[in-house]
Parts: sequence; structure tokens; C-alpha cells
Amino acid sequence: MALVNENFLKLKAGYLFPEIGRRVKAFVDAEPVKAKSLIRCGIGDVTEPLPDAAREAMKLAVDELGARETFRGYGPEQGYEFLRKAIADNAYAGIEVSADEVFVSDGSKCDTGNILDIFGKGIRVAITDPVYPVYVDTNVMAGNTGEGDESGRFEGLVYLPCTAENNFVPALPEEKVDLIYLCYPNNPTGTVATREELEKWVAYAKENDSIILYDSAYEAYVQGSDVPKSIFEIEGARDCAIEFRSFSKNGGFTGVRCAYIVIPKELTGSTTSGERVSLHGLWARRHATKFNGCSYPVQRGAEALYSVEGKMQVARLVKHYMGNAALLSEACQKLGLSVYGGEHSPYVWVKCPDGVDSWGMFDKMLNEAQVVVTPGAGFGAAGEGYFRISAFNTRENVEVVCERLVSLLG
Ligand code: MLT
Repeated sequence: MALVNENFLKLKAGYLFPEIGRRVKAFVDAEPVKAKSLIRCGIGDVTEPLPDAAREAMKLAVDELGARETFRGYGPEQGYEFLRKAIADNAYAGIEVSADEVFVSDGSKCDTGNILDIFGKGIRVAITDPVYPVYVDTNVMAGNTGEGDESGRFEGLVYLPCTAENNFVPALPEEKVDLIYLCYPNNPTGTVATREELEKWVAYAKENDSIILYDSAYEAYVQGSDVPKSIFEIEGARDCAIEFRSFSKNGGFTGVRCAYIVIPKELTGSTTSGERVSLHGLWARRHATKFNGCSYPVQRGAEALYSVEGKMQVARLVKHYMGNAALLSEACQKLGLSVYGGEHSPYVWVKCPDGVDSWGMFDKMLNEAQVVVTPGAGFGAAGEGYFRISAFNTRENVEVVCERLVSLLG
């Protein structure tokens, strides 16, 4: 008898974005005429064409694969040296990160889920609420939780509420936890953590022998230099943090797939008998066993994002999406709604009008304005009463969304 992993059965709801897709499809089937003008600002998926620098580099790489002299088969599991070095030199210029601490992969969603392979059973895990649902669901699958309750919270997880009162940066846990997921600029609230706040987290992690899993997939959207883009800008973080980054939201690689993790060589976890073990070594072993590397053309495309032209093209993309975020924020503010995020992030987090809950707002926007948003409650109990608008869209669509918001709520 093939026993199943019963932890999966604890996940009562479908994964958030397919669930939204299901509801949108039901609307499209029921209202085909209205659905013609549907605008999707739900999942944060990019809309603008790939930067030329990346496209050209990928084409050249494909041509290399077309000649025996330059053909390549399996690449190094951890990523080609050219890309690991480009990441260390560019993404971490002035920060202590070496090329061999960078592990290239095909996405941060996979990385943030797969990282649990190297941690033991029975660990105490803290997550913010609201949160990117992958952190929760993968901990449920891994058996790090008990059952879920009505609000979708799972027994055993330590929830750190992020509210307007704490600027969506949680207070330190009152108890000792082993793993802490932090994501800044934050998905879903679009807010950022200051240097001082991150210093407190690093101090907590060092004092409690915990590891911070720092997701900075949206770092390209940070404006100015006051807000940290990397946890490794904080002194001491090399002893207590792993960072996740992606080319999805800066280079528009959501369909191309390339991301990376940084694990400092000195970072360790513990065995039950107290022996210290290198997390870098464990992840290298895990990656080499379960992954055969991201494709060569894709890695060449990612490398090209760090060329002079590539950097300019990424900056243009970021400026475009940030322009959208500004328009969406302004439209919601003019309607008297409380608006957060959108300044260092492509996500605008909006308080629902009085008397409307998150899914109610989702339905209202879908049925009455033909705009798909993401209900805050889908990101956790503390997201109830909010909705998220993604600024990943064309300018034309965003302008129409702003007009429809005014017609709907004005
Ligand atoms: C989101 O909409 O939250 C993200 O696009 C999802 C993801 O990056 O997996």
C-alpha cells in the first residue's frame, strides 16, 4: 500500500492563485460579454516584453547549442560560474557575498519551499500574517504544523501579525523560534522594513540561534538607498540568514524562470546532539541530488541583465511598473481608501470600503468592474479587510482600472 503524505490533506483550500483563476474562469463562462473587458491585477505576473539584452544573450546561447564545438549538456547544478560571479559582483556589490555562496535555480517559489528539505522535523516556524502563501503551505506539507482552523491558521506555526499599526513589520516573537520567514519589500502589503528593524531581527536570530529566510524577490523596486535591499547589508546576518532572490520581477523572467539563493559558508544549523552542520554544504548536497541546473540559455539571459544595457532596460521596466503603482495608489487615495505599499514595491495594499470583506471586494471588482484583484484574506487571517492590486500591467490597462475604481466606488 502506497501511503500518502497526509499533511497535504490539512490544506483545505486550493493554492491561492489557482483558486482565483478558478473563480475568474467561472465568471468568464457565466458572463462572456462582460469578460471581454477583464483586466487582471491579481497574480503579480509581468506584462512587458523581455529586456533586449536578455533576449539577445539567450538567442546567442541557443546558437551555441547548435554547434558541436560550443554545445553544452548538463551544466553545474549550482549554476554556471559566469552567472554566480555576475550575481555576486553586481547584486551584492559592496556586500560580503562570494560567487560560491550563490545557488542558481529556476524560481524563488521552488526555493522557498525546497529549503525545508535541509531542516529537521519539529522545528518551530514563524511567519508573518499576511504572508506569501508558499511559506505556509510548504510547512504544512513538510509536517511542521498541526491542523488548520476556520481562518486558515495552522496549529504549531507562530504567526506574527502585520497590521497598519505596526507598519506591516511584525514585532519580534515572544517565544523562541527556529526559522523566521521575512519578505521585504513585502508581498503582499508592498511595505518595507527599515535598517533598524532588520537589525532587531538579526539580533533576535543570533540570540535565539534561529535562521531568517529572507525573501527579497522585489528588491529592484526599492527607491533610494535608505531601505535595505538585502539582509546581508545588516551586520551579523551572515551568521543567521539565507536570502532568496529572483529574476522574475526585475528582468521579467516569470515565464523564463531563473532565481537564486545565497547561503553564507559560515552559516550552520544544529543536529539533535548539538553538532553544528554547514547549511551551505547541506543545500549544495540537496541541489546536486534533486536539481540538474537551470538551462544554459536562461542563465546567459540572466547574466545579460547585469550588462550596461541590461541594467538600463531593467531600470526602465521597474520605472514603468512603479509608475503604474503610483497611479493605482493615487486613485485609491482619492476615493478615501487607506492605501499602503506601492512606493518601493509593485503591490498596492488597500483597505476595503466599510462593510465589505476581502472576498466581497474581490467579487465586487470582478463582477461590477471586471478587474481581478487579490483578496487580502487569501494571504492570511490578518489580510482580511484588505485587497491587493498588482501594478504589473500595461499603462493603458492601469489607467482603465483607475477609471473603473472611480466609477465603482466614487
Ligand atoms: C504574487 O502574485 O504574489 C506572486 O506573483 C506570486 C509568485 O511570485 O509566485
